[in-house]
Parts: sequence; C-alpha cells; structure tokens
Amino acid sequence: MPFANERLAANKELLAQRPVKTGLRQTRFTFDPDQVLQQLQNRIVGQQAALQSIGNLLQVVRADISPDNRPLGVCLLMGPTGVGKTETVRVLAELLHGNSDALCRIDMNTLSQEHYASALTGAPPGYVGSKEGHTLFDADKIRGSYSKPGIVLFDELEKASTEVIRSLLNVLDSGLLTLPAGNKTIDFRNSLIFLTSNLGAAELAQYQGRFQRGWRALMQPSQKAESRILEAALSKRFDPEFINRIDHILHYQRLPAGEAEQLLDLELNKLRRRLAGQQASLSISGAAKDHLCRDYDQRYGARDLARRVRQELAPAVATALLAEPDATAFYAELQSGRIQVQVVPADYVK
Ligand SMILES: Nc1ncnc2c1ncn2[C@@H]1O[C@H](COP(=O)(O)OP(=O)(O)O)[C@@H](O)[C@H]1O
Ligand SMILES: [Mg+2]
Repeated sequence: MPFANERLAANKELLAQRPVKTGLRQTRFTFDPDQVLQQLQNRIVGQQAALQSIGNLLQVVRADISPDNRPLGVCLLMGPTGVGKTETVRVLAELLHGNSDALCRIDMNTLSQEHYASALTGAPPGYVGSKEGHTLFDADKIRGSYSKPGIVLFDELEKASTEVIRSLLNVLDSGLLTLPAGNKTIDFRNSLIFLTSNLGAAELAQYQGRFQRGWRALMQPSQKAESRILEAALSKRFDPEFINRIDHILHYQRLPAGEAEQLLDLELNKLRRRLAGQQASLSISGAAKDHLCRDYDQRYGARDLARRVRQELAPAVATALLAEPDATAFYAELQSGRIQVQVVPADYVK
C-alpha cells in the first residue's frame, strides 16, 4: 500500500495525464462528481465500496434528475467506531462547501433521552420554549443553495429514541418537517442526508473473527453473510417503515494493520497544519512511524493512531518547540530519545 502522500502525488500525476474534459452538461449544480469522489478517496483511507456509492449518488444529484418531493439522497453509513463514517461526511461538506462544518449535524447521543425529542423539533405549543421555535436544525445548512446540496448528518443513529426516529420518518419521506410550534417548516428536499450507525458491528466482528482461527482461516468471510448480519441488526432496532426510506446502505470496514501507516500519515498532516501556525514543520523518520504504528489496535481504527499522536508525539514536539524558540532545526524525542523527530521552521523546508 502506498502512503497517503505518495498516493496524493500519484493521483495528481494521473489527473495531469487525463485528457481535458470539455465540461459537464450544465445543470443547476456546479460541482464535479468525479473530482469530489477522487478527493474523497484521497482523504479517506480504504472504504472503496462505500465511497463509490457516494460517488454514484453524487452523479445522480449533479445530473439533477432526483425526485423533487423528497431528500436528494438518504445514506446509512454502517460500521464500527473510528473507520471514517463521520469523517466522510465532514470531508464531503468541505469538498462541496469549502468548509467541513458546513453541515447540519445532529448528534443522536445528545438526544438519547425520550424527552429530548423536543430539542430536535422544538417544543409543541403551550410548552416552555415553544414561542422561540428553538430547534437543533439549522435550516440554512439543510437547504444548501441553488447550486449546492445541503448536508445533514444524523450521527450515531442507534442512540436515537423511537420518538426521534418517528419524527425522522416524515423528513425522509416528504423532505419536509413542520415544527410542532407550527410556524415553521424545514425543507430537506435539497439535502443529502447521512445517517451513521455502529449497529451490527460487534456481531460482524465476531463473525469475521471466526475466520482467523482453525480450519476457517483457509476461507474468506462471505459478503452475503456479512450483509445479513447487518440487516438483522438493523431490523431488530428499527421498523421496516424506517429502513425502507433509506436509499443506500454503505458498509464501512474495519481498517486493517496494513492501512495503519496511511492513517498515521493523515493524522501527521493534521499536526503539521497546526505546526504551520507556529512557523514550524515536522519531518519524521520511518523508525518513528513504525514506533507510532506498533501494535495498532484495529478495534479503534484511526482513533487509536490519533490517540498515539496526541499522547506521545504532540507532547514531545511541544517540548522541543518550547525549549528552543530560536533554533532553526531541533529534535523532538520519543521513547527517551531513541527515536527522533525533526522539527524545522517552515522557511527551511524546500
Ligand atoms: N478511513 C479513514 N480515513 C481517514 N481518516 C480516518 C478514517 N477513519 C477514521 N479516520 C480518522 O479518525 C477520526 C475518527 O473517525 P470518524 O470518522 O469520526 O469515525 P467513525 O467511523 O466512528 O465516525 C477522524 O478524525 C478521522 O480523521
Ligand atoms: Mg462517528
């Protein structure tokens, strides 16, 4: 597997070699679905099948042939924690709107208690807060614009109460939500709606684990069986009514150890961007990378590597940065000095 940076460079070359497109058919939408997909693939490690499905959806949206009496698309992103579900939606917001916060994100975790349902849609008439029509929905971000779809993320769906799910049914169905206060309707008909969930992830891991030992190690887990496990977990938790309103169910896979270095590179780039704010740049040896990736824990995916960068690398870099305010180049040390990380002021990097 090539590293993220190399893959980025390779992609740039490929792009340069491609014949110049004469331009896409004009519709009201202005984004280029191929380009968005390619950027998504650069920024999200693995998950090819899931990203391809999003790419397909974007083609349909861009062609402006989606039905106009419901949301542009409803995608359920299923998979274990730390594999890029939320990140995909944030990156998509950045690619379409230039800002990874340009989406309406509803964290179902914060709505988990039944009585919080009113926080989603505002209090019904007569209740405290009903006049203000307070709602977690950001109508502008949901609506998007004439040339760009709005993006909505219902994160960690498995934590939503049945009442919240019920109020979502209408949204998915008609693309409209009338707030109980009665004076406002929120329009989702120009929105891409993403739902994320880890339902079935534990059962799936258990199933896949069986193929790592004994005679089954000679076989591959079957995709059909995997889909069935996820479907079973879904239908145990949600009514068919709700499931039927989902257009695309995307499976996010665990990120194997072979992908740890790519994930680390992405985390390192984030640290580099922050260092750039201090006019410093980071270069890190292969040994230091190996050290940071050692015993990578698949169960936590990229979160495991982010934690290592945060807990081990960032403090070492910070110590070096603070100790030598005028140095042109200095070393941060990991593992009591056995592994060095070079930090140089940005000007000195070619
Ligand atoms: N496939 C991936 N590619 C790139 N980064 C990832 C990937 N998976 C996770 N990450 C990183 O790990 C962090 C947690 O990922 P997130 O998308 O929030 O996980 P979840 O699947 O639980 O929603 C993010 O900040 C992201 O940078
Ligand atoms: Mg998430």
